[in-house]
Amino acid sequence: MKIELINNKIYLNNGNSNEEIHPFWLRERLDGEEFLDKGTQQRLFDPSAMNCEIEIEKAKISDGFIEINFNDGASSRINLEKLATEFSNKDTVIKSINKIKWNSNLKNVKNFTFEENFFETKEMYELLVSFYKYGFVIIKNVPTNDNFIVKFANSIGSVRRTNFGEHFNVKSKSNPNDLAYTTLHLSPHTDNPYRNPVPCIQLLHCIENEVSGGFSTLVDGYTVTENLKIEDPEAYKILSEVKVRFKFTDKNVVLEDWSELIHLDENKEFKQVRFSPRLDYVPVLEKNKLDLYYKARKKLSDLYNNEKNRIEFRLEPKDLMMMDNYRVLHGRTKFDPSEGNRFLQGCYIDFDSTEGKLRHLKRKFNL
Ligand SMILES: [Fe+2]
Repeated sequence: MKIELINNKIYLNNGNSNEEIHPFWLRERLDGEEFLDKGTQQRLFDPSAMNCEIEIEKAKISDGFIEINFNDGASSRINLEKLATEFSNKDTVIKSINKIKWNSNLKNVKNFTFEENFFETKEMYELLVSFYKYGFVIIKNVPTNDNFIVKFANSIGSVRRTNFGEHFNVKSKSNPNDLAYTTLHLSPHTDNPYRNPVPCIQLLHCIENEVSGGFSTLVDGYTVTENLKIEDPEAYKILSEVKVRFKFTDKNVVLEDWSELIHLDENKEFKQVRFSPRLDYVPVLEKNKLDLYYKARKKLSDLYNNEKNRIEFRLEPKDLMMMDNYRVLHGRTKFDPSEGNRFLQGCYIDFDSTEGKLRHLKRKFNL
């Protein structure tokens, strides 16, 4: 891409075409002291209140800068490199990290090790990149004292508090309000599909694990649904079109949200999976459509529960697992509480935490 100046008009040449850049688009980006607060990088003027019929009176490109005088009297030098970062109309940091598909053959994913000042290191940047590639990451040696998981989460961004509290303790207990608090096998599921918005990321921190069972299981919803799209487009289509109701009730709250099991973005690409078959209710549709839906859901469930799609591992004390709750399904194998204690703590954070941290570290280390 190249910026060119022809008769006081500024053009963006991308090799194939030469498009004029709207003068007001440039006017909005003036970054001299009177236009932009250097500390906050926020505008000191309000372009939405200005007359957008603006013209360039004079312009000059030199030494990596463009000097522009506008007909409303404003003038400034704009750094061309900085301007070039504005030409993309989508997120260039997070979207540039390509998701890696995986199944039970997944090997050699790097585990990270917690250390002093961990959250401001290059290692933390690499951790977040790995998280966006695989949809999960494991950090070893995370302190287990004083609900450290909350400090951990708040050092990346902010804890997303729910009605389960700021964090929750995963231990078997009597009269549980969720099957997570039992010793039962938990098939692959995503958490809290009944919330709006669904918590984006779950952190699970192993505090104690003295039992021989209770293995953690993960399945990549992205891989499974992308494969389904190729192998059974009809099933994929209905699962990405029919919105179902997810509901959670206890004595204090009734939570409900509606979504497709495979939720696509505006470009019909993968955005989110929700799967929690103890909580989903499809609306009454024509019998033929429901027939198709139930068969498709069974197929998806079989794939999620197929060991070829699952990795299984033991979380040791001080291991902290971070999972993308929009992409990865999690579960656990059953365990025998008479063997000893099994105690995990969990909490949620949202994508703004990880994305904000990743962009900050990329800027800090000039990556
Ligand atoms: Fe869960």
